[in-house]
Amino acid sequence: MSPRHATLLRHAAFPRVKQLVAELTGMVFYADKDETLAAILERRLAMLGLRDLGIYLDRLSDPDERETLVSEVAIGETYFLRHLAQWEALESIVLPALIQRNAATRRLRCWSAGCAVGAEPYTLATLLRGRFARELDGWGVTILGTDLNRNALDAARAGIYGSWSFRATPDSFRERWFRPHGDGWEILPEIRASVEFRRHNLVTDAIPPDGGAFDLILCRNVMIYFDAPTIATLAKALHGALVEEGWLVVGHAETSPRAFADFETVMLPETTLYRRHAGPPRGGAAPTVRPGRPTARPAPGPARGAATQSPPGPAPANGRRPDPRQPPPRTPGPRESVPPSPKPAAGGPAPPPRAQGLPDDMAIRGLIGRGDWAAAQAACTARLEADALDAGAQALMGLLLDERGDAAAAEGAYRRALFLDRRAVLAHYQLGCLLRRRGELSKARRAFRNVLELLASAEDAAALPEAGGATAGELRRAAMLQLKTLEET
Ligand SMILES: C[S@@+](CC[C@H](N)C(=O)[O-])C[C@H]1O[C@@H](n2cnc3c(N)ncnc32)[C@H](O)[C@@H]1O
Repeated sequence: MSPRHATLLRHAAFPRVKQLVAELTGMVFYADKDETLAAILERRLAMLGLRDLGIYLDRLSDPDERETLVSEVAIGETYFLRHLAQWEALESIVLPALIQRNAATRRLRCWSAGCAVGAEPYTLATLLRGRFARELDGWGVTILGTDLNRNALDAARAGIYGSWSFRATPDSFRERWFRPHGDGWEILPEIRASVEFRRHNLVTDAIPPDGGAFDLILCRNVMIYFDAPTIATLAKALHGALVEEGWLVVGHAETSPRAFADFETVMLPETTLYRRHAGPPRGGAAPTVRPGRPTARPAPGPARGAATQSPPGPAPANGRRPDPRQPPPRTPGPRESVPPSPKPAAGGPAPPPRAQGLPDDMAIRGLIGRGDWAAAQAACTARLEADALDAGAQALMGLLLDERGDAAAAEGAYRRALFLDRRAVLAHYQLGCLLRRRGELSKARRAFRNVLELLASAEDAAALPEAGGATAGELRRAAMLQLKTLEET
């Protein structure tokens, strides 16, 4: 830590600045990121020519400076087609249902809440203008993108992106919807014009932003920074901002039966979505439902340019880059079924407690969910340094690598996790997804069958400790759906 950071951290005004940041943004992220906040404050002080944090605290009574600080703090990781399984669910389930529902009004209102630099609302726009162009011809379609970070919104309006924003997209997607611009790519004007960007704070501003109800709200990888009461309040507000039978999509690490109890929970492979019930809001826990197939099954993959993408991308939990210091993984053959193991069956007792101070699976999943790769990698590495046989940490490293698009390293990590623990059910599942994306379908089938075999005697409601809140029933259903759709392939 630099001496300057240490001085800032010790300053009497630091806790008050930190508290103000939490109040202004809802973000409790900085509870364990004091140094990051200190670095941001150091930059602001230098920009303003101030030496004392107390004086800067006074300066924060100026709304402009508050907004600037908030924009520095709320930096968002995003990219096109992020979490492909959700876009596939939107394409195959959600949008056909909404188009059917709104056939009479011929209107569709969508909101990307916490849109960062715009990849999310623009991805939605490409889906609507590509795959659904015919069905939505003549409709009034609106897409609103909001964020509290004004710099991000400026970048979103400019619509120019570097290659990192396309790390999860096939070239055909970029070529269809963008044109070269300097070293980067510019979104086509027709797509840019179809999204309106506006500053909006999900914690302090009215929801919905303009009074009207939405058919679809994407609020992904935003709540992960919030504490439980803030999430609960926001979930209620988003529920109220939806039409009946409207849909909410949150980040895959953000699903929570308790926070979203007002909604119907719709389980799909690798994706959990929420839908507002028809009729007045209900109290208590909502039932879990799986919607019927849409009337016409659309081709897989989001916009037309991405239609060749294979099904679901990475799912929940686990893995790591092969470590040359470790023995080479004995990669179990795909036809091999799960051998008996002295370890508890999936859905059984929780794993042994971690050494104090080490991040648990949920914490690492959170870091991966919000794209904090460096912190996630450091957390996995710390776990593995403490226990080289920690299969959960290996599998989380695999997930991290998978999310970053490094499929070869991710596969190595999943296999290493399985080498350490053949009963690591999430690693089997994720390996199956990876193999499926790569077109290795019979190996993928084997991996999903292993999941079913491992879960054969687990209670539906049994929590899978490594799956971040998912239950054995949920994972079993997901594996069964994978197998079913693989059989149709
Ligand atoms: C990790 S990015 C997610 C971007 C996009 N939704 C995605 O999943 O790719 C989180 C975004 O949430 C925004 N954000 C954080 N707190 C917010 C708040 N209170 N109101 C509105 N946006 C907020 C941040 O500025 C950031 O752009």
